[in-house]
Amino acid sequence: LAAGVGGCAGTAGQTAELLRSRIALPEKFAVPLPVPPVKRPVRSTAGEDHYEITQRVSEVEIVPGYRTAIFGYDGSFPGPTIVSRSGRTTIVTHRNELPVPTVVHLHGGHTPAEHDGYPVDLVYPVDDHARRVRHGGAMAGDSGQGSRTYEYPLDQPAATLWYHDHRMDFTAPQVWRGLAGFHLVHDDVGDRLDLPHSERDIPLLICDRAFAEDGSLLYPSIDPNLRDTPGVHHDHMEGVLGDVVLVNGAPWPTLEVDAARYRLRLLNASNARRYRLALRPAPRGGGGFVQIASDAGLLPAPLPHDRLDIAPAERFEVVVDFARYPVGTEVVLTNELGAGPTSEVMRFVVSRRAADDSVLPRRLTEIEPLRPGAAAPRREWVFSRGDVGGGRGWTINGRPFDPERMDARPRLGRAEVWRLYSDLHHPVHIHLSPFQVLRRNGRPPGPFDTGWKDTVDLRPAEYVDVAVRFERYRGTYLLHCHNLEHEDMAMMSAFETR
Ligand code: C2O
Ligand code: CU
Repeated sequence: LAAGVGGCAGTAGQTAELLRSRIALPEKFAVPLPVPPVKRPVRSTAGEDHYEITQRVSEVEIVPGYRTAIFGYDGSFPGPTIVSRSGRTTIVTHRNELPVPTVVHLHGGHTPAEHDGYPVDLVYPVDDHARRVRHGGAMAGDSGQGSRTYEYPLDQPAATLWYHDHRMDFTAPQVWRGLAGFHLVHDDVGDRLDLPHSERDIPLLICDRAFAEDGSLLYPSIDPNLRDTPGVHHDHMEGVLGDVVLVNGAPWPTLEVDAARYRLRLLNASNARRYRLALRPAPRGGGGFVQIASDAGLLPAPLPHDRLDIAPAERFEVVVDFARYPVGTEVVLTNELGAGPTSEVMRFVVSRRAADDSVLPRRLTEIEPLRPGAAAPRREWVFSRGDVGGGRGWTINGRPFDPERMDARPRLGRAEVWRLYSDLHHPVHIHLSPFQVLRRNGRPPGPFDTGWKDTVDLRPAEYVDVAVRFERYRGTYLLHCHNLEHEDMAMMSAFETR
């Protein structure tokens, strides 16, 4: 157990092969930070808001001067942001106009199983559906193909969630091509706090990509016309890294900020890249990032950090007070795990003095500590390399994912202790209910483990104990590595709540 808390292997932990773009890399800090548009409901009733999203191919300008074909929710990357109210049901109809089947998962959603986006619950392309109908009628179970309606009760606290593709064996290339967006949940507890809001509450979707000579997204061995061909990208064992860092779909963007407090909702939406984020220069006195929320909602109290380790799928909400810098300062968000181009993420320019009526309260919310007793069920999950259908892949407890096989049957309403072991870096995500980190390698949790989490970064040769209590919904859910190439190479388990 080499890596203790804080003793992370650093860049050595990021061993995946770097894809080098075949275009001249775009100039840094040259484009303004885009903020994804907030989606408007097509209709609302007393307790529900209905949305319609079309998944389609579109051409967008990511790198200035190039056209890039993406798979986009509503044709954009990131997709539109959905903003929901805790306790109100959000209903989203996804129409699939892409050339490939898709699955939509609301990451961090407390969602009934039939709406959770099980990896084989495919939404077939509209065109396939039309073709099938022409060739002698729909196949059994065909209802809903071409589109699918997902219902999210969102009986959960305010949090920064995101939605993304979850198609079995193809999540990585499909997310790489653009299928990811924010879904924010607000509630009264959060609203009472007077944290920075409106233009000073900004979601930042961070990911890396690489570009081919014509500006198209480069992904190993993936021919956009190859479909339903398992194994096409199975040569990238450690996951896929690109050399261009995008924030909200723009390369190394710039944001002009007031000298005031901002709430930044950081999401690492990369397939495989981990970041160690820092502010350069750091504000005098340090603690530039004041963490207020983790994956699944507010922390009990603000937690200052100088740097933030963020693994794929994790979210950290932080308050950064740009009034701690003189007007005119250029503050770069850096990545201390990156090298060369990937060592920077974006830039803030403190452009003017401004009034600030936001506050950073000493207490944020109450969190019930989960303390499973000695009699609580315990389960072990070993994340490691292994044999997958004759080739090498990634396994949990030595077995590749099988959507028909249930690897655990936890009871609803009862806290359990899950011990997660890893051979290398694996960001582990559990669906349905968030968890609390109890211990890392038998020692207290690390600095980034506070609060309700739904994804925890396991470092090489670590074990982490988490307490989890599944609530309310019976059905089939997932536990998997959120390194998307690992996930596609079978590092996923199904469990059934009962
Ligand atoms: Cu963000 Cu199972 O996924
Ligand atoms: Cu992994």
